[in-house]
Amino acid sequence: ISKIGVFTSGGDAPGMNAAIRAVVRACTYYDKTSLGIMRGYEGMIEGDVIKLDARSVGNILQRGGTVLKSARSKEFRTPEGRKKAYDNIKKQGIDALIAIGGDGTFTGLHKFYEEFGVPSICIPGTIDNDLAGTDYTIGYDTATNTAVEAIDRIRDTALSHNRLFFIEVMGRHSGYIAINSGIAGGAAAVIIPEEETSFDDLWELLEEGGKTNKKSNLVVVAEGSKIGDAHALAKLVKERSSYFDIKVTVLGHLQRGGAPTYFDRVLASHMGVGAVEGLLQGKSDVMVGVRDRKIVYNKFDDIMSKIHEIDAESLRIAKILSI
Ligand code: F6P
Repeated sequence: ISKIGVFTSGGDAPGMNAAIRAVVRACTYYDKTSLGIMRGYEGMIEGDVIKLDARSVGNILQRGGTVLKSARSKEFRTPEGRKKAYDNIKKQGIDALIAIGGDGTFTGLHKFYEEFGVPSICIPGTIDNDLAGTDYTIGYDTATNTAVEAIDRIRDTALSHNRLFFIEVMGRHSGYIAINSGIAGGAAAVIIPEEETSFDDLWELLEEGGKTNKKSNLVVVAEGSKIGDAHALAKLVKERSSYFDIKVTVLGHLQRGGAPTYFDRVLASHMGVGAVEGLLQGKSDVMVGVRDRKIVYNKFDDIMSKIHEIDAESLRIAKILSI
């Protein structure tokens, strides 16, 4: 391997820049050339490639977003699109790939590896923390801190008006941001897709709070909730009783931006170096991860069939403390 192409794909996540920097500097350290592919698989298809070196990735470690930009490419899902991408990377002399992104990114990379055999490693970068094979994905810690800060602010106004707030947080099919921002933000209830909660369970909790003189109530809802999003749940409560003064806040994309926390910068730095070293050791079609503070490599098939489960202890703690 002499020339490694790096790109970011799918939803951006704080810390992706720190990962790009780590990949490029590790390449320099091991005397390899690195090229940046713009806008993920789109840039690969269009041949939109830039030269990177240790200096060109200076001053990006602390920045949110991704300097390589990102996209969700429809064309790469087609065999013709992938062939175009392959021809382009050959033309550039790229002989290995490092992708930074989530499950869709890894799925694309796996397909590409199966078809063309280009050595490749995925770095998990997504705020959702929904990939098995790593304790944390890059961006999750920052996004959760952002959600907690927002919840704290909402609590101030909720308490001033004795209101019930439904706060919706991101996580397409995952309740990670919800459960942990809920615990850290003191939520009365957390609704996540991984746990069976019925509307009646939620209602009971809220009623109980009313009886025990709770002045404000914050319910954190993961966007993937199976019993309805924040607006739908608010509507159901309103239909059942006029007792609560209800407001809804959807945090949305503000969770995706901002400077990465120290944790995400360090995680991204370890994974970026880990990805380059993995390729140089001959690993391919794997995702680099960190488990119990150690770098690990997991085969695509070993992790994509699994869900990154939320530990039962977190669910238990959230319940006890919502009293
Ligand atoms: O995967 C990250 C994520 O932010 C999810 O939490 C969310 O469902 C999705 O991306 C939103 O995607 P987009 O930015 O394309 O609307």
